[in-house]
Amino acid sequence: MLASLEIKQGSIVADIGAGVGYHTWRLARIVGPAGKVIAEDIQEEMLRMLKTNIENQGVNNVQVVRGTPTNPNLPEGGVDLVLMVDVYHEFSDPASMMTNIRKALKPDGRVVLVEFRKEDPKVPIQPLHKMSIQDVRSEIEPLGFKFQKVLAFLPWQHIIIFTAGK
Ligand SMILES: C[S@@+](CC[C@H](N)C(=O)[O-])C[C@H]1O[C@@H](n2cnc3c(N)ncnc32)[C@H](O)[C@@H]1O
Repeated sequence: MLASLEIKQGSIVADIGAGVGYHTWRLARIVGPAGKVIAEDIQEEMLRMLKTNIENQGVNNVQVVRGTPTNPNLPEGGVDLVLMVDVYHEFSDPASMMTNIRKALKPDGRVVLVEFRKEDPKVPIQPLHKMSIQDVRSEIEPLGFKFQKVLAFLPWQHIIIFTAGK
């Protein structure tokens, strides 16, 4: 999944809702020493486990950030790519989160949402935790994001990519 995003070395990537960091340390290796991963979550317990995991993985280009349910506290205009894996559907205030995420993106920056396919009844996940492409597009595009593409090679999830549209 990460390889399909064609992330360049030296990029600044934000892993929003990073959890215990499964994607964080992999991203850290992709962007390399000239790049940085900002790993953000709202749960202190997740961030504690994430810090242990990135230490154990031996990566030192990760900045750990505690956000709030409305703001991921990212630097303004400095992020090349925002990744959210199984996260967007959990937001209690998606419009505020996405407005702040858009502010954090560079003009050519991208946001990538990975969500379980609501369109496919065979995906064995509770409906509450699934999203359709139309659900996502109808919520995100009015905030200024431009739909770029969907990658459909994962068995259960869509990879939905937008640009900042600035
Ligand atoms: C299902 S986990 C996914 C973790 C990680 N992305 C992964 O793929 O392993 C969802 C995460 O989203 C976080 N989350 C929920 N609402 C959030 C918000 N408004 N801002 C940041 N993180 C949030 C939760 O704390 C949780 O760690």
